[in-house]
Amino acid sequence: ADFYESIAEIIALHAQREGPLLPILHDIQAEYGYVPEAAQPVIAAALGLTRAEVHGVVSFYHDFRDHPSGRHVLRLCRAEACQSMGADALADRVRAALGIDFHETTPDGRLTLEPVFCLGLCACAPSAQMGERLLGRATVEKVQRMVQEAGA
Ligand code: FES
Repeated sequence: ADFYESIAEIIALHAQREGPLLPILHDIQAEYGYVPEAAQPVIAAALGLTRAEVHGVVSFYHDFRDHPSGRHVLRLCRAEACQSMGADALADRVRAALGIDFHETTPDGRLTLEPVFCLGLCACAPSAQMGERLLGRATVEKVQRMVQEAGA
């Protein structure tokens, strides 16, 4: 189906329920891998919201992205247990090593860096994740190896 048709279908699926915005955004993200900028005014109009309100929700929730991600997504845990074990310093070193900030993708489109809030590996903080792979007691060297092994 054409882009606007499928957006309209997804909206119609949820429009009648209470709090339709989040389920609509989830479905769109599931379909496209992100919430395209072009979908946002359509959603806004359908739900009687402003574009800014829809955009605000997309940027507020870490689950949603408004641009496509790279082929691989590296996630660094930013939650408390990892913070207390040096997650900030690790993030600085990883960002420097990859040359990208959080929510950014390498210019070749291979790798996106995202924060994540607890991977359930608090006992071996700081932690990181790539696809199915979880990394505990993460160091910049271990993260780089994981990225290489993933072919990213
Ligand atoms: Fe990082 Fe739980 S706080 S894995």
